[in-house]
Amino acid sequence: MAARMWSKKVIPSFQQWCKIRSYSNEVRTVTMIPGDGIGPEISEAVQQIFQASKVPIDWEPVDVTPVKGPDGRTSIPPQAIESMNKNKIGLKGPLATPIGKGHMSLNLALRKAFNLYANVRPCKSLEGYKTPYEDVDLVTIRENTEGEYSGIEHTIVDGVVQSIKLITEQASKRVAEFAFEYAKANNRTTVTAVHKANIMRMSDGLFLKCCRDTAENHRDIRFNEMYLDTVCLNMVQDPTQFDVLVMPNLYGDILSDLCAGLIGGLGVTPSGNIGQDGVAIYESVHGTAPDIAGEDKANPTALLLSAVMMLRHMGLGDHANRIESAALAVIREGKSLTGDLGGNSTCSTFTKAICEKIEYMD
Ligand code: IPM
Ligand code: MN
Repeated sequence: MAARMWSKKVIPSFQQWCKIRSYSNEVRTVTMIPGDGIGPEISEAVQQIFQASKVPIDWEPVDVTPVKGPDGRTSIPPQAIESMNKNKIGLKGPLATPIGKGHMSLNLALRKAFNLYANVRPCKSLEGYKTPYEDVDLVTIRENTEGEYSGIEHTIVDGVVQSIKLITEQASKRVAEFAFEYAKANNRTTVTAVHKANIMRMSDGLFLKCCRDTAENHRDIRFNEMYLDTVCLNMVQDPTQFDVLVMPNLYGDILSDLCAGLIGGLGVTPSGNIGQDGVAIYESVHGTAPDIAGEDKANPTALLLSAVMMLRHMGLGDHANRIESAALAVIREGKSLTGDLGGNSTCSTFTKAICEKIEYMD
């Protein structure tokens, strides 16, 4: 059923896409979804930092608060869909998801609406920000459109519910292909497929088979396969043994949080949702932090590092490098850190410190 929803046309691979995208200095418009709670403050911080680096980007802010259609169903407002269809690239702050209120998480709705099939979360230890782990440098790549997140659930009889984990060859192959090409494009050496094919023989079995088949076409990248539980165990014992990991949706959701925890949490971990033909939404994965919203206390790092990933995707690597080194330097120096990083600076002081570093680099 779901497999039919995806077009069969040949799409450029991630690497081909990197080659064909435009490297010119023309101003490009990016859809900005500031989000809820602390979203507007951290989005503003990112915009200021981009301005300090004179990034050739115009922002198109859109509101994604669901609207009720004539059929009574809620959905993403058409303006937001149009903006993303036009611009292809978006940056998104946190969105509040009312639990059990009947409508689907907007985060998931956006991934589905734009068929953003690969979720990429690099976890790299931040120099100068101490955690119990050192030298973590890995990337989780999560299948982002199906698996346990298919939303196919029903009651069989009172007290018995069933939830379908949907795995297709098409979605498994394209995320596996993405993982290998990502590894190549980013000078990584190993891709590990994370699975439980010993238990979910058919569904994870198919996912694993797709990874194995894809590995055959990428002999220059080492391929490993590991059980999810073993990965968790080994990850907390020594995360430095891991490089690129690829896995079905729910495993990726959980494992990426675990990995974020190794380097300081969701407040410092970037994320990108990648689709076909260069379409992508980069986002911070942390919550909306309503307790500190509007108080100028939020840490914009996760959204900023997501925006840095976005710049690389857009072929604006020089700006990406400059902004990233300024942000990492401010964190390393430790003088203007927000509360969650152990400091007592405001979001605006932290932002200003990064802007000053960038201006000084000119
Ligand atoms: C994430 C988040 C989302 C998910 C939520 C907000 C729906 O936890 O991006 O990892 O479960 O995928
Ligand atoms: Mn998550």
